[in-house]
Amino acid sequence: MLYPLSYGGQELRVYVTSRPGIRRLPDMSNDSWRDRLRALPVFDDDLPGFATDAAPADPITLFTEWLNSAIDDGASQPHAMTIATADAEGAPSARTLLLKDLTPEGFWFATMSNSRKGLQLGENPRAALLFYWREHGRQVRVSGDVVVGDRAAAEADFLQRSTDARAVAIAGPQSEVLPGRERFESAVADARAILEFKPDYVPTAWTAYLVKPAAVEFWQATRDRDQVRLRYTRAAEGWTRELLWP
Ligand SMILES: Cc1cc2nc3c(=O)[nH]c(=O)nc-3n(C[C@H](O)[C@H](O)[C@H](O)COP(=O)(O)O)c2cc1C
Repeated sequence: MLYPLSYGGQELRVYVTSRPGIRRLPDMSNDSWRDRLRALPVFDDDLPGFATDAAPADPITLFTEWLNSAIDDGASQPHAMTIATADAEGAPSARTLLLKDLTPEGFWFATMSNSRKGLQLGENPRAALLFYWREHGRQVRVSGDVVVGDRAAAEADFLQRSTDARAVAIAGPQSEVLPGRERFESAVADARAILEFKPDYVPTAWTAYLVKPAAVEFWQATRDRDQVRLRYTRAAEGWTRELLWP
């Protein structure tokens, strides 16, 4: 069967077969959603350029330039990133986290080691990060091994959080089933009492993690719906740089 689809302003025609093992597309007859989605704007006309010939030799330098530019131009939550992890069977899951630090070694985030992602990282210490700065039409994809930072890094991070954020983190086991909001409210009240009594309390599960990039891809949209992709891959010494087909 022939299905019309649109992507990035282009009409595509997709053939779907009913061969066993190939999932059929969902019903595409909901025209109002298709039209509504199609009418949404994607990128501004005014996008920054990306001179790949002049790109620095290492991706952290280029990432720093792009992050600085997102911050300076007032991008919304420029330090928010999607992080994907997978369990031992390879089943993926993704969520948003804040980037907590950027060092020559890589990208830092902090969370509970007994959360869903923390448990997954325990059994499969690899992750993919995704930054999307929509105002600039830019995305950066990072993948690599994840290592646990030292205790001091976790403590410093936790103690910089607001009292509310610390109380919520202490209140209960992140990612486990919550029996009800009342249970949450009383646990947060208990956690506040602990923090009043011991303001420098840091739960042992609070952990700073470092993603050591093995590959970093920079993607830039352009005004004419073209895309520029540059991937850095870690080599024996330094990094290799390659353009990718959009
Ligand atoms: C903008 C934003 C920032 C967030 N930052 C963090 C963070 O730094 N650490 C964290 O543990 N959860 C953070 N969260 C919550 C996570 O997305 C997620 O709900 C939580 O970590 C549990 O994930 P898990 O069940 O996959 O372990 C953030 C959520 C949003 C929307």
